[in-house]
Amino acid sequence: MKRLILFSLLAVIVSPALASAGEDGAAILKNRCASCHDLKGPAPQTIRELWKRDAPDLFYAGNKFRREWLVEWLQKPVRIRPAGVNYLRNINSTPPKSQKGKAGRKFDVLWGEVLRPLKHVKLNRAEAEAAADALMDLRPHYELVAGKKLDSKVKVTLDSGELLIDKVYGCLSCHQIEPGYGGYTGPELYTAGARLQPEFLLSYIDRPKNWDPKIWMPNMHVKPDDLQKIVHYLILLSKEDFDASN
Ligand code: HEC
Ligand code: HEC
Repeated sequence: MKRLILFSLLAVIVSPALASAGEDGAAILKNRCASCHDLKGPAPQTIRELWKRDAPDLFYAGNKFRREWLVEWLQKPVRIRPAGVNYLRNINSTPPKSQKGKAGRKFDVLWGEVLRPLKHVKLNRAEAEAAADALMDLRPHYELVAGKKLDSKVKVTLDSGELLIDKVYGCLSCHQIEPGYGGYTGPELYTAGARLQPEFLLSYIDRPKNWDPKIWMPNMHVKPDDLQKIVHYLILLSKEDFDASN
């Protein structure tokens, strides 16, 4: 009996400590992330809803991200979208006076300053691991990645990949392939290979609107062979050493 009393006393003392140290991943998402991020879906169905979104959707995070990237980024978050999530608020496609008539200007420019650095919740390692596990459980879009596979026989170099992204498909007008080089509309592509699952890349680049019906990325009609090359290129590119503080 004495032992039982001692045990229950101990449980009362220990349990609050346990609860705070072991806040599980789902609770972290609910309490500290859901105010900004959509964790339930569906993606915005109208342009109006799209422009109300201030943070990327996370409800299909498990179909999208590489877990190891999540764990690192959640501890040290840095900007991914150079003009922010609501890029139209921050970019200008009409050249400013200083650049009028200049040959060779091909990208949008930012209104005012570049938006780095990003202010974002930071997690410690244990929290980041727990949140990453909970995010990886969110996989409603398995049908969009089913059957997608990176072909290991495909060979690509940084030069031939860049040619596809720049000249053949013009992805560069909206995306950067190194800090400061490329457009401002979409997320940076020089970290995409480390951030995103290959199967997601194959699926999203092929049909962006399957994931996000109102998103501004057009269907670029990338040929299947080129799609494989582009994804191999993005993975190769993500291994280059870029100064991300740029
Ligand atoms: C105050 C709003 C806010 C809160 C709270 C917040 N985030 Fe974010 N988060 C953002 C914004 C804005 C971005 C976009 C950053 C960028 O693209 O440069 C972002 C980006 C992300 C990304 C990358 C998504 C992508 O598609 O590129 C992940 C993952 C993420 N947040 C996870 C979390 C987690 C986990 C939490 C809770 C611990 C959290 N966020 C809390 C605003 C927030
Ligand atoms: C008209 C502008 C535009 C063009 C052209 C364009 N994209 Fe995008 N892209 C976007 C936008 C906008 C998003 C989604 C932004 C978001 O989720 O916040 C996006 C998203 C992506 C993503 C997902 C990135 C992530 O971090 O979630 C990849 C990968 C991508 N684009 C690759 C490409 C490739 C490869 C091409 C060329 C074949 C291309 N894009 C052409 C605007 C564009």
